[in-house]
Amino acid sequence: MKPHFLIHWTDEVDSTNNELLRGRDTLPGGYILAARHQTAGRGQRGNDWKDSKGENLTFSALLRPGSDGLPAIAARDQFTVSEAAAVSVRDLLRAHGAKVKVKWPNDIYFRDKKICGMLIENSLAGEDVAVSIVGIGININQKEFSPALMNPTSLTLITGETYGLEELLDEFAEIFSGRLALTGDTEGRARLRADYLDGMYRLEEEHDYALRSDGSTFRGTIKGISEEGMLLVEMPDKTLKSFGFKDISYII
Ligand code: BTN
Repeated sequence: MKPHFLIHWTDEVDSTNNELLRGRDTLPGGYILAARHQTAGRGQRGNDWKDSKGENLTFSALLRPGSDGLPAIAARDQFTVSEAAAVSVRDLLRAHGAKVKVKWPNDIYFRDKKICGMLIENSLAGEDVAVSIVGIGININQKEFSPALMNPTSLTLITGETYGLEELLDEFAEIFSGRLALTGDTEGRARLRADYLDGMYRLEEEHDYALRSDGSTFRGTIKGISEEGMLLVEMPDKTLKSFGFKDISYII
């Protein structure tokens, strides 16, 4: 089974995630809404996501696991959606000459600069994921960024080329569809996991991190991710600790 995506482009919306949340009960699985401009784009942890009109990809995909050609996904396996999305963006950008890496949980980085962020909003029904809204922002043709942003980059800054957004999104949908087809069984998910870990940002390297709880810092080495998608870090005393997204931040 491989989901088929139907892509709809709009000039302006508050946030493509918001629009799909509003249409969650009526829109078909496999619907992608892409906006040339978002007036209130949302990022992780309540941050905003600003775009530069018409220069970047800002879109959301509505997934209904268990229907519309997509395998069912158990709530405990929901990190597999993040993995499928992250690996798909990574492979799309690599196919266009940018040697990017996945930064756990689902950012895409070129060296120490961020080129893509994701906001994935799942609703559960019992033990399963009922609807997943996968919101993705990828910097494509933007050359100048606000100095307020920590470390942004774009595909054009990396390769020097200019890209057609619609063609890139069509390519992404094709790659994502193939990756999502793997999420339905243990073997497929193991393959996705191995691909996700392959060349992951900072894997097996010693770096500085901070605890979000009290801001304290420590040096650690990322060893991998747990079954449910927590980050596994070897601590200074050599013990292995697992961290959720709200627990740890990278010092870059
Ligand atoms: C982050 O890195 O903080 C996540 C950014 C996610 C941005 C995308 S752009 C398309 C979709 N619509 C939104 O409002 N947010 C996501």
